[in-house]
Amino acid sequence: MKKYFIKTFGCQMNVYDSWRIAAMLNARGMTATKTVADADIIILNTCSVREKATNKVFSELGRVRDAKKPDAIFGIVGCVAREVGAAAFHRIPELNFVLGPQSYHRLPEILSDPDTKLLNIDLTGLEKFDELPQMTTAPTVSYIPIQEGCNHCCTYCIVPYTRGREISRAFDDVMRDTLHAAKTGAVEICFLGQNVNGYKYTDENGKIFRLSDLIRATAKIPEIRRIRFTSSYPTEMTDDLIQMFATEQKLLPFLNMPIQSGSPDVLRRMNRPYSLHAYMDIINKLRAARADIQISSDFIVGFPGETDSDFEQTLEIARRVRYINSYSFKYSPRPHTAAALMPDQIGEKVKRERLAILDGVLNEIQREFNETCIGKNLTCLYEGADKTGRHLLYRTPYMQQCIVARAENPKQMANIEITAANRASLRGKIVD
Ligand code: SAH
Ligand code: F3S
Repeated sequence: MKKYFIKTFGCQMNVYDSWRIAAMLNARGMTATKTVADADIIILNTCSVREKATNKVFSELGRVRDAKKPDAIFGIVGCVAREVGAAAFHRIPELNFVLGPQSYHRLPEILSDPDTKLLNIDLTGLEKFDELPQMTTAPTVSYIPIQEGCNHCCTYCIVPYTRGREISRAFDDVMRDTLHAAKTGAVEICFLGQNVNGYKYTDENGKIFRLSDLIRATAKIPEIRRIRFTSSYPTEMTDDLIQMFATEQKLLPFLNMPIQSGSPDVLRRMNRPYSLHAYMDIINKLRAARADIQISSDFIVGFPGETDSDFEQTLEIARRVRYINSYSFKYSPRPHTAAALMPDQIGEKVKRERLAILDGVLNEIQREFNETCIGKNLTCLYEGADKTGRHLLYRTPYMQQCIVARAENPKQMANIEITAANRASLRGKIVD
């Protein structure tokens, strides 16, 4: 029986794609292994969003080449495959295949070809997303992709190139996957998309389905207790979707809605053409719909031409919105993007300093928010035991980690009284 090894880099979409690839290989009688040296097929599912991520893939490929069985075939799939295409074969000549994110359904065909190891297959051109097999048991938190690709074309971002133009999946297909997940173990559903709130599907009768329709239908499934979605583009936060936070109690009061920068000049050069006023307007509407909603953002520091005053405005907006659970990155020039060719690229030292300052501000806000939770009762979802085995880890409705003392038969959903907090996590005791 053939064994396969898959290593996943990057975002939730890649984690999900790896599951589907594994399901496809299992269906063909192959089994998974965690050891490269045991594998007949080795697949790295890759991320190219920042240069460091791409470099990591190539150093891993070197390690795999040296550790694998001589006749094992190995290849890369995902965004680096799309980014570098056939050039990957020049860097690692022993590589057997390079497959972009839209071509995974062709993997079995490639792997079943006895000549595969003689071929350098480059299928990185974008193809239509085809149906892949279902998983048999769903994890407690199930990620369901509803939309792929992005039409926004932010000038720094390689995703529109690697993942292509936006495609929304059929409403019925998404609901079939969601129901299947609910019946096989899912308690929380997270809808996924590079531009998830841009979800728009028109059926054969011309009826239009939006993300709010998916949320409403999912909230009716008794097994599903929590719903969320990621990642949202600010100006696609339509009123019907904002209203969901008021009417659907299963929708968590937590939203990732990246602003990237607080400077209007930088935002314009990033091709994110919303005003700070429009952005704050959306935040205010969200808070009017659900008073306790918490917002998370992604930030980029050191975008070409970013001045000290631009950067100050980013700190200002972070303090004003009081973002929690955010991600911040140093700008990384990527191939196939306009910003990589812009003048006034910022030096590494300045980027590093700005990132440290921003992280300091974000951490402080996070700690303060965590402290406001002390004394509250929060309904949390069980995640598992910690590394020591002495504690249980739960996830709050605001996606904070909450640590409680070990108990036999931990409840999947528990009402927890928060007793202590620091920047990274909360502590509490189970009330019921
Ligand atoms: N909406 C998308 C975002 C894709 S990339 C999604 O969730 O799939 C995730 C984050 O990486 C972006 O929000 C941005 O903050 C960061 N990012 C993208 N390109 C970058 C680059 N060239 N340099 C640094 N950070 C980048
Ligand atoms: Fe990238 Fe901007 Fe789309 S960050 S994924 S181009 S919204």
